[in-house]
Amino acid sequence: MKLYTNPASPFARKCRVIAHELNLKLEEIHVAAARDDESLRRFNPLKKIPILILDDGSALFDSPVICEYLNHVGGGKFFPGMNLFRGVSGRWKALGLQALADGIMEAAVACRYETTQPEERRNTDHIARYLANVTAGLDALERMNFTDPPTVGEIAAGCALGYLDFRYADLQWRDGRPKLAAWFEKFAQFPSMVATEPGV
Ligand code: BEZ
Repeated sequence: MKLYTNPASPFARKCRVIAHELNLKLEEIHVAAARDDESLRRFNPLKKIPILILDDGSALFDSPVICEYLNHVGGGKFFPGMNLFRGVSGRWKALGLQALADGIMEAAVACRYETTQPEERRNTDHIARYLANVTAGLDALERMNFTDPPTVGEIAAGCALGYLDFRYADLQWRDGRPKLAAWFEKFAQFPSMVATEPGV
């Protein structure tokens, strides 16, 4: 399997963490920030990474789909299913947490794109809106109780926080969010998180 990815992408990192956890071999193909790479459209009409190319040549996107596929082929337990004691509530909790963390990533990545535009093209209203979403998303994460062992939701939350540390060191997201900060302190030390730390 091949993964079209970028070392900075928190969305791709979710897939890479799950692959690492399940000992699945992924050949990584690094591409520039997806907005600039027209050639990706042959796999994903939306030209967004990550994209997973299966051995039969077919393409899977986006990150929630790829994560669930990798979980399935690797026999993982990152997507809780029906359980005698908890019903399906564990599944909706995991998917809801993933959606929230993905939303934080989306806002943070879009904000990064906007702030790196030449000044005359930068939209300060958009930047303020993205940052408001990041802040509100982080506050929601602080109020949540995370699951141990982690689901795809916790993995997504960890990747979102890792991206903020990587691109938004000045944001100081830990301030006023002691529970989230303590959780991430431990979570970031998982070998799969260490092996997939964002880079350029
Ligand atoms: C970044 O450079 O921050 C980035 C690159 C690709 C995808 C997402 C983020």
